[in-house]
Amino acid sequence: MIKRKNILKIAIDSPAAAGAGTIAKSISIHYNLFYLDTGKIYRFIAYLKLKYPKKFNQKFIKSKIKLLSMRDLSDKRLLSDEVGIEASIISKVKGIRKLVHSFQINFAYNPPRKYRGSCLDGRDITYKIIPDADFKFYITANLKTRALRRYKELNLLNKKIKYQEVLKSIKKRDKSDFNRKISPLRKTKDSLLINTTNLTKRACFLKIKKIIDRKIIN
Ligand code: C5P
Repeated sequence: MIKRKNILKIAIDSPAAAGAGTIAKSISIHYNLFYLDTGKIYRFIAYLKLKYPKKFNQKFIKSKIKLLSMRDLSDKRLLSDEVGIEASIISKVKGIRKLVHSFQINFAYNPPRKYRGSCLDGRDITYKIIPDADFKFYITANLKTRALRRYKELNLLNKKIKYQEVLKSIKKRDKSDFNRKISPLRKTKDSLLINTTNLTKRACFLKIKKIIDRKIIN
């Protein structure tokens, strides 16, 4: 694998709907980083399972991952709650995780030249995908805040769903993501904790920017 030298790599892990994606996007724009929401890859595979239940096996997934484009990952259908729950089920399968790891590692270490580096968010980024990242963050918020944010997001997308249902599915996903045997979500010792419960998007961005600037501008 080719690894670009002297690039800036940012790794973010977080539970569902903690605001990591929003922060990662604004940080990536600010520092000109190639951004990947790794959850979208698991969602993409979950979507394949829901759409083609009969064809769904390792070989089928492999052939789809080979052709995976950023456009596939921005498909709005991947955002539904149903796909999110299914993603947390298929992401427990070792063989599936292995299939997507090389895609993520390549993305992280070999971003296109026009970018200064890369920024990835997910559940195992800080310790599995980019263990040598220049910055590691663990972004979280309390359960109710996360459920409310996801509820608002889904409603904006015209997905008819009740708050109680969203709360239930986030709880379910937390349970699965924190307790699974393979690559469970956890805060590594070398990750900085950012609790976004009482912070605006702008405040989160500024907090992280300050941490990064302190180290890279001197
Ligand atoms: O981040 P998002 O909520 O879209 O992720 C969907 C699911 O994909 C998560 O609940 C988790 O089970 C799985 N995931 C993972 N590892 C990652 C990113 C997501 O297992 N790096």
